[in-house]
Amino acid sequence: MCGIVGYAGKHHAVPYLLEGLEKLEYRGYDSAGIAVNEPDAIRVIKTRGRIGNLESLIASQRHSDATVGIGHTRWATHGKPNDVNAHPHLSEHGLFCVVHNGIIENYLSLKAQLIADGFHFASETDTEVIAHLLEQNYDGDFVSTVRKTVAMLEGAYALCILCRDFPDSIVCTRWASPLVMGKNSDGVFLASDVTAILKHTDDVFYLDGREIALIENGALTFFGPDGAAGEKQPKHIDWSVSAAQKDGYEHFMLKEIMEQPKAIQDTVSPRISSDKRIVFENFHLTDDEIAHLNRIVIVACGSAFHAGEVGRYVLEKMTRIPVETAIASEFRYRDPVLDSHTLVIVISQSGETADTLAGLRLANEKGAKTVCIVNVVSSSIANEGGSVIYTHAGPEIAVATTKAYSAQVAVLYLLSGYIADRKGLLTDDARKTYVDALLKLPDLIDQTLRDCDDQMKKFAELFIPMEHAYFIGRNLDYACAMEASLKLKEISYIHSEAYAAGELKHGTISLVEKGTLVVALAACSDVFGKTMSNIKEVKARGARVLCVSTSENAAAMNEVDFKVIIPDTLPLFAVTLEVLPMQLLGYYTAKSRGCDIDKPRNLAKSVTVE
Ligand code: M6R
Repeated sequence: MCGIVGYAGKHHAVPYLLEGLEKLEYRGYDSAGIAVNEPDAIRVIKTRGRIGNLESLIASQRHSDATVGIGHTRWATHGKPNDVNAHPHLSEHGLFCVVHNGIIENYLSLKAQLIADGFHFASETDTEVIAHLLEQNYDGDFVSTVRKTVAMLEGAYALCILCRDFPDSIVCTRWASPLVMGKNSDGVFLASDVTAILKHTDDVFYLDGREIALIENGALTFFGPDGAAGEKQPKHIDWSVSAAQKDGYEHFMLKEIMEQPKAIQDTVSPRISSDKRIVFENFHLTDDEIAHLNRIVIVACGSAFHAGEVGRYVLEKMTRIPVETAIASEFRYRDPVLDSHTLVIVISQSGETADTLAGLRLANEKGAKTVCIVNVVSSSIANEGGSVIYTHAGPEIAVATTKAYSAQVAVLYLLSGYIADRKGLLTDDARKTYVDALLKLPDLIDQTLRDCDDQMKKFAELFIPMEHAYFIGRNLDYACAMEASLKLKEISYIHSEAYAAGELKHGTISLVEKGTLVVALAACSDVFGKTMSNIKEVKARGARVLCVSTSENAAAMNEVDFKVIIPDTLPLFAVTLEVLPMQLLGYYTAKSRGCDIDKPRNLAKSVTVE
């Protein structure tokens, strides 16, 4: 949530800052700004709206030769998205300038004290407090002033700071919000997300919590929370630069939908050994611990939670351990009963979602075993989990997740098979059948995407004028309905609801009338007949029904208005194919409605506030 960039090097800073901000715009896009160290002062240029507005504003002003600067793209939390609240923020006399991701929870008491001490506030943001505090705490030493200041802050922060007295330097620090940096012969590049600096280097340094980095004259020095300077090893990033570009697609979302065969291939195949066993690297759950697990809790937000809903069915079916799912923002405040026989599975694409991270910390504190399914390497959740299983989906830029969701589901299949196998619940034949079917998924995903692309473009036309839609299904189909409904609503702004198909008649069916669109997910053969009964109920009230199922059920789908047939696979894996036409439906509907698909209103990719 919000994006930070910085550059200090041999060249003019502004083009690098704008290039980085463009890459990070998906993290927040209601205002943007930069600050550069000029000979006599720190110069700030900022505006509400997108990076394009900032670029025009910069182009209309005098050129800057500055070689050191910071930038920010904002997702508003404190104060409206306007010019004044946009970052960067200057201190009272312009000595310090700050860009900030996160939320300072004690900012009101700090602000009251600063006002009493004679400081004046221009903005409504929590961030401006930090700028003024830096000036108040200034002792002539940039790093020690930052250390003193952050010790007064409660909450989350990633900070990049300029000081007028140190025109060749940037100081950065963070707590519960990420920051990454790297250097090459052109200078030092920093950002809140590695995709913004990948073009310049793929050997990067992730700042640890409360660590401080000083960037000065092309050198990077790291100071631990105790103030001691220390060595830090870079991490090599495998993601290619092109993976973070649109590659000819009109939107990142469509590109990422089409990348799903590769994402699943890359996630699954390295975890299958030559003797068809599931293996994980750096997995710390022993067979004895697995044998003594009596409960599994899956904690996540949004689509990651929906992936967890798939996992709930699959894990329970395969391992015979009771499984529950919990929305992270609820879980963290409900004092859950957890012990060393509970496995908490935490799922997050970004690895930085504030509520999910808090849920993981709670599970760790309470002594549960934790396994995290994460896409972003070295993110906070990846670093704090008992074990981490990475989804190898590559960078996901569109705010609406597609390939990361599918990769999360693939890891849950792997984990279910692994635990079942370690518990001795799978015969050799059953294990091989399961693993073979998993390995075939990338091809089936590819086939499904090719088969239903044109069809979903056509069906999207039905949704364009709609204000409401309903998605129904049972068991795994219901898990898919939740994700399908979110995909449609978050990018097309059509109100939609997902219901367990049998639940509709307990109230919501009163909303169904002539012409209402109902999407029925019906790939689970064991409950297909039951779902068909629910389809008849809505048809009887005038609904038009689009139904997704497998070829074995095609003949029995005579009641429905529109059919989508997905390829055959194991019943537990059909949901992975079933979700694909739903992603395309959301995409093409939003496109036809002229929506901003990759950056839907009010949203941001990584939700680092609770
Ligand atoms: O980074 P995370 O996986 O933790 O993010 C969780 C949700 O914020 C995310 O899935 C969100 O719901 C997406 N907009 C869904 O497309």
